[in-house]
Amino acid sequence: MDRILLIGSNNKSKTRELRALLDDSPWDLRRLDDFDPVPEAEETQDTFEGNALLKARYYARRFNVACVADDSGLEVDALNGAPGVYSARYAGENCTYEDNNRKLLAALEGIPEEGRKARFVCLAAFVNEDGGEHVERGSVEGLIAPECRGEHGFGYDPVFIPEGFDQTFGELPPEVKAGVSHRGRAFGKLCTHLASIA
Ligand code: IMP
Repeated sequence: MDRILLIGSNNKSKTRELRALLDDSPWDLRRLDDFDPVPEAEETQDTFEGNALLKARYYARRFNVACVADDSGLEVDALNGAPGVYSARYAGENCTYEDNNRKLLAALEGIPEEGRKARFVCLAAFVNEDGGEHVERGSVEGLIAPECRGEHGFGYDPVFIPEGFDQTFGELPPEVKAGVSHRGRAFGKLCTHLASIA
């Protein structure tokens, strides 16, 4: 029988992407919705790796199952790497994705294409029932578009044009994003580890 693997995220869009990325792995995938509600893991660390491990450890211990979690964000060179680990709250506590994108586009107003380099970063963490841990990193380089484009995805997807494409992640189909994204790359590597210990 396949072992249970919990996807430790309250973000529905992210959970959907993670389910698709982990679909081929020999694990019985579960979401947080499949368990009794618990308070959300608080992201208190100032690195992607610290927060990814914190979330995976928290839910693994809480439910006594193996768990994967990611921490991810957008680094913009012209903003010295901001919003970085604070990507979700860039425009303030309880802000929307639209607020964040508006603030980002305003911060880059008037900056030409060559000054709009950015990357998405994802740290994927796995924590076993016995406390064993494994972490993988993935990133994708790109540019910040001059305006929001497309309805797919979530977060900064409408303003991020991945290297090698003219369209934003908001315009590209989800399976194309999965093939080149920071999350796709980090979890691609993590899947190799998960297959080896299943
Ligand atoms: P966290 O990893 O849940 O702390 O949140 C990361 C934040 O980074 C999200 O709320 C988004 O704003 C942004 N982000 C991370 N990954 C993506 C992505 O694949 N597309 C768009 N935005 C993302």
